[in-house]
Amino acid sequence: MKVLVIGGGGREHAVAKKLLESDRVETVFCAPGNAGMEADGIQCVKVPETDSENLIAFAKAERIDFSIVGPEVPLLLGVVDDFEAAGLKAFGPRKEAALIEGSKDFAKSFMKKYQIETAASKTFTDYESAKAYLDEKGAPIVIKADGLAAGKGVAVAMSLEEATLALKEMMLEDKFGSAAEKVILEEFLEGEEFSLMAFVNGEEVYPMEIAQDHKRAYDGDKGPNTGGMGAYSPVPQISEQLVKKAVEEILKPAARGLVAEGRAFRGVLYAGLIATNAGPKVIEFNARFGDPETQVVLPRLESDFAEVIQKLLHDEKPDVRFKKSGVTLGIVLASAGYPDHYETGHELTGLEHLTETVRVYHAGTKWQDEALVSAGGRILLLETEADSMQEARQALYEEMKKLDNPNFFYRIDIGSKAE
Ligand code: AMP
Ligand code: GLY
Repeated sequence: MKVLVIGGGGREHAVAKKLLESDRVETVFCAPGNAGMEADGIQCVKVPETDSENLIAFAKAERIDFSIVGPEVPLLLGVVDDFEAAGLKAFGPRKEAALIEGSKDFAKSFMKKYQIETAASKTFTDYESAKAYLDEKGAPIVIKADGLAAGKGVAVAMSLEEATLALKEMMLEDKFGSAAEKVILEEFLEGEEFSLMAFVNGEEVYPMEIAQDHKRAYDGDKGPNTGGMGAYSPVPQISEQLVKKAVEEILKPAARGLVAEGRAFRGVLYAGLIATNAGPKVIEFNARFGDPETQVVLPRLESDFAEVIQKLLHDEKPDVRFKKSGVTLGIVLASAGYPDHYETGHELTGLEHLTETVRVYHAGTKWQDEALVSAGGRILLLETEADSMQEARQALYEEMKKLDNPNFFYRIDIGSKAE
């Protein structure tokens, strides 16, 4: 088979690499891909992830068997709808189903309607009413932009001053543009967070193993929210029973609800969950594989990944099995200053000294005069598997040291909660 992965981040790198493990797969293309892929045998195609017309032309010319759409932006623009209209197979939700990620306001009212546990909230379109509600509720409180903001449109405010500042930035200063035309004020929830992804086809739900992301920029979960600074899987602090409850009371009702709304979902449904004293509650839904969760969950998939996707695309039941022992750890190398201001163009050295068992997933890198340089906030992720988290942490932090550079940084506590 020939397969096309759409996107160019660490998640797509992990998806493409996993597909290449399949005996059924001969070639994996990635559009636009990234600077680290060719070394792994993935063929990059210079077409932007949102350019349906040229993606379709490429898929037809190359007789691609199926495509997988990684990021949320092309999903919400309807790239899957366009592929289907052209008679091509593409894995990912159509745009009306991807709205579960594209609008937090839609997701909140959807959860209310289908009795899916989530933080209590209210949506606002003008600053004055939002501010009045804020003053009434007080802190801690969570402020969220309705639309897509690359994981950064959320402020968890511990004081009223912080909350007011965040509200002003979103509603008066236009920091997030049209994504913040609606703003959601949400109850602050406490508990351990985890990510539960599942392959979904209509009402059918095939859960993956859970993972934990590290969203804050600095050690000890301090600092601003980022796209994710590292992840690991499985998450021993979360009981199997709680995961089962989340599958039965969150993922399955969500899949059924989307069908009932005429928004049947085929793709990966991601629930960002928090284990509160009252059980698991939803923080967010995403309509795709998580990044960086995918980089630590897919290596643990035992079944043939390409076969799983193909079966889902043909409305057949896939065999989804994960490794029963061991752990996977992934640590992000980021540009100093990320997620705020940071520099790019710094040379990445030390990759050639990494141990062979460590996998490298690129995100913000590019080739410049034959040198690999940083080109984004999150530069790359190193991933390894081990028998225990302690072993994984010891081994992977030794590898991270090989990439040390004053222009880059990484958290030193990734996975420590699972030791
Ligand atoms: P989101 O982009 O919605 O996943 O939110 C980013 C991060 O903000 C989450 O991973 C949580 O750490 C935090 N967060 C979001 N909503 C809440 C909430 N209601 N209570 C506490 N923390 C939250
Ligand atoms: N890791 C969070 C996300 O993919 O949105």
